[in-house]
Amino acid sequence: MKKILFVCLGNICRSPGAEAIMKARVRSAGEEKEFLIDSAGLYGGHAGALPDERMRRAAGKRGYQLDSRARAFYPSADFVDFDMIIGMDDENIRMLNRLAQDETERSKIFRMTDFCRKNTSFSSVPDPYYEGPAGFELVLDLLEDAVEGVWHYCHSV
Ligand code: 4NP
Repeated sequence: MKKILFVCLGNICRSPGAEAIMKARVRSAGEEKEFLIDSAGLYGGHAGALPDERMRRAAGKRGYQLDSRARAFYPSADFVDFDMIIGMDDENIRMLNRLAQDETERSKIFRMTDFCRKNTSFSSVPDPYYEGPAGFELVLDLLEDAVEGVWHYCHSV
C-alpha cells in the first residue's frame, strides 16, 4: 500500500483539494485498497474545520466533494506513517525539512509541482487564501495536473 500525505499551511484550501482529487483518481482506477491518502496543515489553527467555502465551491463545480476536517501535521507520527509527504510551496518544504529528524524522513518530502506535466513553469501551488476566485481555479488546475503525475509516479516506483 502507498501512503500519501498532502501538506499545506492551513489544511483548508490546497491540501484537502489535493486529497480529494487524489482519492477520486484512485477511485476511478479501482485502487482504493492500494492507497492511503490524507492531508494536514503545518499551521494547526484551523483544526477541525471543513475546507474553506470558496475551495469547496470551486472544487464542487469540478465534481470533487471536499468534506475532510482540517488537522495539524504531526511530525513524529506522520513521518513514520506515510511514504510520501507532499508540500505545496517553498515555505511548506522548508518547514517539513526542518521538522524531519533524519535522512529517511527527509527523503519522504516531495514538492507537489514537481509532478506537474502540463503546468511545468510553476514551482509552487500558490496560497489562494487572500486571492480571488481565479486563485482557486489556478490551484485546482495545478492540483489536477500534479495528482495525475503523482498517480503515475506511484506506479513507476
Ligand atoms: P491552505 O491556505 O494552506 O491552502 O489551507 C491557507 C489557509 C489558511 C491560512 C493560510 C493559508 N491562514 O493564514 O489562516
